Amino acid sequence: MAGAWKFPERFLWGTATSPTQVEGHVANEWTDYIASDGGHCRVACNHYHRYEEDVDWMAQLGVNAYRMGIEWSRLQSAPFAPLNERELERYIHLLDCLKASGITPMVVLHHFSNPLWITSAGGWLNPATVPAFVDYVAKLVSALKERVWLWNTFNEPDTYASLTYLLGGFPPFHKWRLLSYRNTIKHMAEAHVRVNEVIRRAGNGGRMPEIGIAKNWTFFGAFQKHALWDRLVAGISHHAFNHFVLDAFLGGQRRAASTFLGVNYYGLARFKNFEPMVPAGGACPKQLAQLGVVCDDMFERHPGGLGTILRNFHRRYGLPLYVTEHGAASSDEDFRIRDLTRHLDELHGALNSGVDVRGFFYWSLLDNFEWQFGYSKKFGLLAVDFSNEKLPRQMTRVGEFYRGVCRTRKTPVAVQDFPVAAR
Ligand code: BGC
Repeated sequence: MAGAWKFPERFLWGTATSPTQVEGHVANEWTDYIASDGGHCRVACNHYHRYEEDVDWMAQLGVNAYRMGIEWSRLQSAPFAPLNERELERYIHLLDCLKASGITPMVVLHHFSNPLWITSAGGWLNPATVPAFVDYVAKLVSALKERVWLWNTFNEPDTYASLTYLLGGFPPFHKWRLLSYRNTIKHMAEAHVRVNEVIRRAGNGGRMPEIGIAKNWTFFGAFQKHALWDRLVAGISHHAFNHFVLDAFLGGQRRAASTFLGVNYYGLARFKNFEPMVPAGGACPKQLAQLGVVCDDMFERHPGGLGTILRNFHRRYGLPLYVTEHGAASSDEDFRIRDLTRHLDELHGALNSGVDVRGFFYWSLLDNFEWQFGYSKKFGLLAVDFSNEKLPRQMTRVGEFYRGVCRTRKTPVAVQDFPVAAR
């Protein structure tokens, strides 16, 4: 690769999925949910039955890491119940397949879904969910500790709590329940601290396990600089989604419960007359393009923000960092490749300036069930044809590009042809 950035030898180049989005055959609060495109998660990519084939695809991609979730609802049928042996064996086999392909797992313990008995008891609003989760994790960790050393307790607690209790996007679809948002975060942060003790106690052979969360980081701003009301909304959003959540998980003594911090980074949301100017918030992509807002099918792109936030987290917390998710949804593969190149440029810049980043996980391995949006958002390194009941996977050009990165540990230096968001 001429004109390329070289990355460290031990860097983890990975990809990521979550159980409800890819596995299929789950019984949780998403099972009966019908997304805006009419889709549901009952079969999804059928990764549940096809994980061996999907691990082969990962090997073809040349990734050396996989951020995977384990679905609580499969493993426990009631609070404090023993784990379901058959389901546990399946996850163990998946971990063994990964190992045989030289792929390091990062296991996510909670990714937007709960067993139905947790949901019906009030979900994360109920303080009793904390000891129930700790019990589940203790049993799981004791079963998997020889195979897993990278544990990610909660994926985007901010997204989960806001979409369930503020924005009405996730079951139980409540809106503007500020106290519920706050209590959900509080209980998850408490569970993180307690689970950290469990994981440390269990260990990983001779090795010290790593523990962290994946924090979604979105930059918020006003589309028109003089619009004080939009600046106010941006400021409140920043406080509620970024500050408050980071403080709950990493403030004061609680920082000691994490050995790393994961960052899920997609970009920027700017407000215009109180409305977020992003496709994920309902804005029309054509109109956004006319206004010069560069978006994928979800968010405004802001590659420079990745470098900014990595430097900022490094300074503020001094913890090793992983980019636990980054990707773009678009049917324009050239756009996705350019977008990825620009973000890898930023990642390299951060590493070069001394930020301790240990890995990058592309979201996502497969086109999958994108929650409220169903199957309409194409994030996959592998495309999945959902109109064919065999759900065939096919390598995308983005996947081929990423394969080059994983295999050579080099990325092409980005040409500055990617319009940068005016901030
Ligand atoms: C979530 C994923 C989701 C992705 C793309 C992240 O916020 O963790 O579940 O699919 O963003 O929207």
